[in-house]
Amino acid sequence: MMNLPEKKLKIALPNKGRLRQPAVGLMQKAGYRFRLRDRALYASCTTADIIFVFLRADDIPVLVDSGAVDMGITGQDLVLERGAEIKEVLNLGFGNCRLCVAAHENFKEGDLTPFKNKNIATSFPHITRKFFADKGIDVKCIEMNGSVEIMISLDMADAIVDIVETGDSLKANHLKVIDTIGSYQTVLISRPQIVNAPLVQQIKRRLQGILIAQRYSLLEYNISGDRLKEAEQITPGYESPTLSRLEEENWYAVKVMVEKKNMVSVLDRLEKIGATAIIETEIKNCRL
Ligand code: PRP
Repeated sequence: MMNLPEKKLKIALPNKGRLRQPAVGLMQKAGYRFRLRDRALYASCTTADIIFVFLRADDIPVLVDSGAVDMGITGQDLVLERGAEIKEVLNLGFGNCRLCVAAHENFKEGDLTPFKNKNIATSFPHITRKFFADKGIDVKCIEMNGSVEIMISLDMADAIVDIVETGDSLKANHLKVIDTIGSYQTVLISRPQIVNAPLVQQIKRRLQGILIAQRYSLLEYNISGDRLKEAEQITPGYESPTLSRLEEENWYAVKVMVEKKNMVSVLDRLEKIGATAIIETEIKNCRL
């Protein structure tokens, strides 16, 4: 049995499920290279003093809290459920989900009273108990490790508390959302004691750069001075747009970051106010 080297920073990444690929991809894009071997429980980073440890996303909060690993990528929902005392270093903006109370389609949205003294199946017993207790409704929690939807078909539960992302799982089981407990994202977490350590800050800055680059494109266009104000309203930029004068009198070249999801409508609006030579370019990385 080999112990992991003490002086290296241990970062836990999800070993399976929907968070694994984005978490691994993000670290690699940030320049932390490591080889992914089938079934390996950990991997040494070849470009920094880091060991990546592959764990179930729901075990990561507790293991960071206990100091078994130093950092991790996991869901805010799992941190909350485990009551882990960790520091959120960075919101990673993917894996957005809601934790919801759901029941058969016949129940009324927003009305939790039918579930008084009833069975609720969930993998989130702590959050569930607290949610219903705060509303003064007694419920019995049936703790599960997944596939909680089935408990309603099996007549073992009257409602479930589960993660809803697209809503497809609920629909497939003739269930609907009755109430939303909270909305959560995937986060980079750390032991509170090491948040300010240089390597932790470097990881944060590198990931921030990659995340912004993934969200924004660089847009360049030319615009006449009398439409500049309108153009700036359409493209306010991440900070502020860069302007340079063109040779032609009263014309400017604008360079600005625009969120990719708004890009096509921004292009339409710029064209409408007379912008020319509008070009979108991919941003690979950035520091802002
Ligand atoms: C989660 C959750 C739901 C499903 C919701 O399960 O428990 O079953 O995703 O997603 P949807 O709204 O997009 O359908 P997951 O796939 O993570 O596996 P699990 O059942 O093992 O928790």
